[in-house]
Amino acid sequence: MIIIRQIDEMRRAVRREKGQGRTVGLVPTMGYLHEGHLSLVRLARREADVAVVSLFVNPIQFGPKEDLKSYPRDFERDAARLRIEQVDYLFAPADKEMYPGEHRTFVEVRGLQDRLCGRTRPGHFQGVCTVVMKLFQAIEPDCAVFGRKDAQQALILQRMVADLNIPVRMIVAPIIREPDGLAMSSRNTYLDPAERKAALVLSRSLAEARAAVDAGNRDAAEIVAAMRAAIESEPLARVDYIEAVDPADLAPVAELREGTIVALAVFIGRTRLIDNMLI
Ligand code: PAJ
Repeated sequence: MIIIRQIDEMRRAVRREKGQGRTVGLVPTMGYLHEGHLSLVRLARREADVAVVSLFVNPIQFGPKEDLKSYPRDFERDAARLRIEQVDYLFAPADKEMYPGEHRTFVEVRGLQDRLCGRTRPGHFQGVCTVVMKLFQAIEPDCAVFGRKDAQQALILQRMVADLNIPVRMIVAPIIREPDGLAMSSRNTYLDPAERKAALVLSRSLAEARAAVDAGNRDAAEIVAAMRAAIESEPLARVDYIEAVDPADLAPVAELREGTIVALAVFIGRTRLIDNMLI
C-alpha cells in the first residue's frame, strides 16, 4: 500500500493507473477504522481494479461545540488494517494540504442538508459535501463507496453527484453492526460500559419498529411514538430526533412504504449516535 499525502501526487498516481486501463474505487473515511469501514473497502475492491481509501478528519464538517479535537485517531492501526485488506493507496492529507488558506468555496445541497441531522448540526453537510467534492477532484475515482449507516449523508452526496454531473458512480453499502445490534461507529469508543449497554436502545427500537411494520402497521406517527417511548425508558438516552422520511426529499411521511427511511439520533450521555433502517 502506498501512502500519499499530497493532492498532486495522488492525482498523478490515479492517472497512471487509469492510463494502464484500470478503474479506481474510492472509500472516503475519517479513520479509526472498524468493520463497517472495512466492508466498504472490500466492496470497492470488488467494484474497481484499484482501491483508494482516504483518511482525513475534515475540520469543516464539525460544529464549534463538537468533537473535532477529541475525535479518535490511530493512523498506524488504520494503515495496518488497510494493508491487510490489500488497499492500493491510502490518501492521508494534512489539514494544510486540504485547506491551505482562507477557504471560500462550499458545496451545499439545499433542503436535504437542513433535515434530520442538519437541524442539530447546521453546516455539517455543507462541510461533508465540500470535502467529498475536493476528494473527488483530487482522486478522480470511477466509483465511490459510502455506508447506509449515514443514510442522509449518502442521499445528499448522491444528489450532489447528480446535480453537478460528477462522473463518479455512487455505491451505498449496508450497515455493519456489532453482534448485539449496535451500529458500528468510530464514536462508540466514547461510551463507558453503562452507556455502551444503553446504546442498544437505538437498534432495539428499530428492530421493534421493523417487527411492527412486518405485522402490517404502516402508521408512521404510531411507530415513531413507540420508538420514542422505548428510548425514553432508558435513563442515559435523550432523543435528538426520530423520523420516518421519504428518501427523495427527507420530508416526514404519514405512512410507511417501501423505500421509507426510519432514522434516529440519540444522545447517550454526551455521545450522539445515529442509526436507521430502510423499509
Ligand atoms: P466516517 O464516519 O469515517 O465514515 C466513513 C464511511 O464509512 C461513511 O460512508 C460511513 O457511512 C461508513 N460507515 C461508518 N460506519 C458504518 C457502519 N457501521 N456500516 C457501514 N458503513 C459505515 O462519514 C464520514 O466518515 C465523513 O463524513 C466523510 C464521508 C469521510 C467525509 O468527511
